[in-house]
Amino acid sequence: MDMNGIQNRIEELSRLLREANRRYYVDSAPDMSDYEYDMLMKELQGLEEEYPQFRKEDSPTRRVGSDLAVQKGGKFRQYPHKFPMLSLGNTYNINEIQEFADRAGKTIASPFTYSCELKFDGVAICLEYRDGVLYRALTRGDGSVGDDVTENVLRISNIPKRLSGSGWPAEFEIRGEIYMPYRAFDALNEEKLRDEEQPFANPRNAASGSLKLTNPDEVAARGLECTLYHLLGRDLHFRTHDEALRSAMKWGLPVSDKRRICRNILEIEEYIDFWNVERRKLPFATDGIVIKINELDIQKELGYTAKAPRWAVAYKFKAEQALSRVLSIDYQVGRTGAVTPVANLEPALLSGTVVKRASLHNADQMELLDIRVGDYVYVEKGGEIIPKITAVELSKRAPKLLKPEFPQTCPDCGTPLVRDEGEARWYCPNIDGCPTQIKASLTHFLSRKAMNVLAGDSTVEQLFNLGYVRNVADFYTLTADQLMTLEGWREKSAKRFLDSLEQSKSAPFEQLLFALGIRHVGESTAKSIARHFGSLYAVASAGRGELLEVEDVGEIIADSVYEWFRDGFHLEICRRLKDAGLQTEIVKKDSRQSDSLQGKSIVISGTFSISRDEMKALIEANGGRNSGSISSKTAFLLAGEKPGPEKLRKAESLGVKVIDEAGFRAMLEPETKAENRPEEKKVPVQLTLF
Ligand code: IVH
Repeated sequence: MDMNGIQNRIEELSRLLREANRRYYVDSAPDMSDYEYDMLMKELQGLEEEYPQFRKEDSPTRRVGSDLAVQKGGKFRQYPHKFPMLSLGNTYNINEIQEFADRAGKTIASPFTYSCELKFDGVAICLEYRDGVLYRALTRGDGSVGDDVTENVLRISNIPKRLSGSGWPAEFEIRGEIYMPYRAFDALNEEKLRDEEQPFANPRNAASGSLKLTNPDEVAARGLECTLYHLLGRDLHFRTHDEALRSAMKWGLPVSDKRRICRNILEIEEYIDFWNVERRKLPFATDGIVIKINELDIQKELGYTAKAPRWAVAYKFKAEQALSRVLSIDYQVGRTGAVTPVANLEPALLSGTVVKRASLHNADQMELLDIRVGDYVYVEKGGEIIPKITAVELSKRAPKLLKPEFPQTCPDCGTPLVRDEGEARWYCPNIDGCPTQIKASLTHFLSRKAMNVLAGDSTVEQLFNLGYVRNVADFYTLTADQLMTLEGWREKSAKRFLDSLEQSKSAPFEQLLFALGIRHVGESTAKSIARHFGSLYAVASAGRGELLEVEDVGEIIADSVYEWFRDGFHLEICRRLKDAGLQTEIVKKDSRQSDSLQGKSIVISGTFSISRDEMKALIEANGGRNSGSISSKTAFLLAGEKPGPEKLRKAESLGVKVIDEAGFRAMLEPETKAENRPEEKKVPVQLTLF
């Protein structure tokens, strides 16, 4: 690429990333996977580093957020509710809504209407206003006593601290729901994943977890919102629920504009049908419709059961689904050779994102669904990244659609597929010859939790296609000259890659064992096996019985490990890795290296040149303490690449210093700096084989 080409590429990348940000953060409808996004960002960062003259102030690599706040704190006090905070009767069945209407009609002689509303999927909240000022916010608690979360609620931006307009009662309560819009939910989970924390399973959990945080600053950063739907007080003079909510709206309170007054069951059904589809376009989660009798005197007449009002009922939606058409089915070969059928779909909107592909899991599942190309299918989002197909809409099936044939040979290398007894998946057994499997295992070897070498899929693809790397040991014989023949690579990028490979040689043995990509040996199994045997040689020589003695290792894992090391080609790779200087044994480190960080509480965020676990160990080895959350006691935030924006904001608001990896390493005493790596302190163990 000439200079013009580079500048154009930088501009194009910036545009793509800005657009991706907009779709992700603003529209809550990302059409690019996190991985694609990260790769583009990495490319842009690399180019800007190499050609700083083209870097712009407003580049997507430089966005930072800021939010100033005053720290408050304290645990929750509990207060009784003035009126019990009850739940709602609910149903998934429209006939029961009819029964609800019939029951009310039988008791009540005068005509009445219904207020139909969205059922927001969040946490119930009760706000008390006194003289137009937010006085207290209580959670539902057990219905009669709630937690005082006023400090947190004061930090939710759409809740007024002071009412506007006029005519509000001197004292009243208004109840509603605090929820986390998808946009905030996705950003929060992205940050949690980056920081290797457990993400929230859904926006509701995220909202309730956030509302119960003890630091209001953190709550402020979570992007919670509120909607209010029930006004209560002693001397209120409204005729209908709708009137009450309209007034609340005039006082500046957030009330949904998606309500509708219905006169009969047909109108209610219409409302339900409409929102059952349209809710997919809403930027927040709804789990149903609430139908309330609108006239307050009738509400009073109907009263309450012990648990719920007799004047309201909830119609709940089934799990959010999208209906889409199967365009084709791909059979993907994974790293360990498992062949997964994946359906390509007509793009459909599901929980705020566009879905184009969905997993069919395995041949049995395809058989069970009786799926065909051209079928309309229901897609649901589970906890996984890729959504799943739950059912086929047979009433929409076109005639003459053919049953797909699960391939008998590997779609990549043509080797006949095998299926072990009791396993649902078909495998390509050609683990060392199937290009897809080789490339996937090369990528896995370099990945962050394995050898942590910075490289993208396209690098591996090129290295493989050029014949430079055919197995993981080949990485360590790469030369700068070879690397500079890769598209867009120059001296600097080649050096960076070689440095990163060099650094990987000091990755602990357990990481290497995981990196080898032995089927069924995940990160934690690799750790257990490595610790049990202490060296690669010992693992390789272990019999099935010895392997079974390892914690968490059962027959399947033991067999897989045993077989892997019975292959001469694999032993040869192990020998070459050992000769290259990789850690093939557990290193017993002298754990204390210096007192440079003595007594310091340090919070880490983002990614570093070493794994997060290694970074934590390094902090401890130098007398520091690793802490999960920032407080005024935090010595500094150690920010790697892509630190969490929430952590940065918090550090800024508390005046906590932010230090990057280079700055951090400079703080350590000389003997523990990068050039003097900890493995030099290991206790040597003699290795004889490979
Ligand atoms: S009215 C006494 N309206 O759903 C009746 N509740 O599953 C008060 N909810 O406890 C409830 N959206 O936390 C009402 N528009 C809405 C609602 C709503 C969500 C929640 C609320 C309730 C729960 C019942």
